Amino acid sequence: MAILITNIKELIQAGDNPGPKIAGAAMSTLPTIRNGWLYIENDRIRDYGEMPADEMELKNLTSGYIGFKSEGNRAEGSGSPPPVTIINAAGKMVFPAFCDSHTHLVYAGSREIEYIDKIRGLSYEEIARRGGGILNSAARLHDASEEELVMQALARLREIMMLGTGAVEIKSGYGLSVEDELKMLRVIKKLKSLTPVTIVPTFLGAHALPAGFKGNRKAFVDMVISEMIPLVAAEGLADFIDVFCDRGFFTVTDTDRILNAGMKYGMRPKIHANELANSGGIQVGVKYNALSVDHLEFTGDTEIQCLLGSDTMPTILPGAAFFLGMKYAPVRKMIEAGLPVAMASDFNPGSSPSGNMQFILSMACIKYKMIPAEAIHAVTLNGAYAMGLSDDYGSISRGKVANVFITCPIPTVEYMPYAYGSNKVETVILNGKVVSPVFT
Ligand code: NIG
Ligand code: FE
Repeated sequence: MAILITNIKELIQAGDNPGPKIAGAAMSTLPTIRNGWLYIENDRIRDYGEMPADEMELKNLTSGYIGFKSEGNRAEGSGSPPPVTIINAAGKMVFPAFCDSHTHLVYAGSREIEYIDKIRGLSYEEIARRGGGILNSAARLHDASEEELVMQALARLREIMMLGTGAVEIKSGYGLSVEDELKMLRVIKKLKSLTPVTIVPTFLGAHALPAGFKGNRKAFVDMVISEMIPLVAAEGLADFIDVFCDRGFFTVTDTDRILNAGMKYGMRPKIHANELANSGGIQVGVKYNALSVDHLEFTGDTEIQCLLGSDTMPTILPGAAFFLGMKYAPVRKMIEAGLPVAMASDFNPGSSPSGNMQFILSMACIKYKMIPAEAIHAVTLNGAYAMGLSDDYGSISRGKVANVFITCPIPTVEYMPYAYGSNKVETVILNGKVVSPVFT
């Protein structure tokens, strides 16, 4: 299986060895190739370049020979090249598929009733205190079968895939009991075999305090540590460990204990921090070498200093800040201090019921004042880093997984975030195969 895309108006985020992440001033440069081509063989990006002006060369190119002729790197004895599907992308651009490093997209039902409460003036924390919020989703998840959860999540995955997402992190956290957390994580595992979207699973045992543990948070944290973590690890159900470290949820001490325990089982931290207050979450994340700390609405100079020099990716979730009407994280300050920034959807029923990364890209520019180049890095390579995937995803580089999308005809790269309400993604290719639209 091979695909050759020709006449690409602009090939975005194209270049070999872009490094694991892009930080600070470097984020404002986006490597692109105008009038380009891209050759995909099996599930990998094999070659790319500028369209030749010469007719004959173009013929060679469209017969699918250029990648190996020019490179001379076809493996010995690997035979003749596979049949090539040619896609003429005249007027269209090709991007690496979005890497959405923070979602909760396995959940049962929806929570638009709370949305009405929110419109009437209740805060996220007030709704949570009344037994709504995460506890509401936990009750629904408890009543749903694994099959139902799989079907609902698959529909969401199909939707985000058609909008350009190629890799996604999915958290547990609506279980709040040993059985239901395992149920959620098994659903996530099942989804991996049912979708072409790459899935990274994260264990979020400490997402909210269930009603049965009211007034006894320590006992719940003990249960997360002594019961949940060993079972999750024994079944190999999660790559990362998360805690909702924030005011009204879990403290720095709780977080410290849980991360410590998770790391002993090989789960690297990736945590919710500083969404509702200056929670100390960023510091405890950095202390345990978290791969990312996420939300960060409450980030001051101390937190920025703490992140500088660490390997932790500050990850911003514009959908949640928008939907809950919160203040926006100080992204400009972070980038100007030299930090990298990733942006993710936070797709969940309570604070961001959308996984549309095109919208996130627009929010990055409109609300966080990122220029389009910075925003594109945030939703591609830096998002891949925040899932531990940047060796294989997040840019158009030879040897990386062929996860790309072709836009509809657009005039400029900037048009992507600018036209914020329209779907600009026309064709999605994941693992070297066209997955959307699907012709039957
Ligand atoms: O990332 N902040 C914590 N967790 C989710 C919200 C989950 C929910 O409300 O269902 C978030 O915003
Ligand atoms: Fe979240």
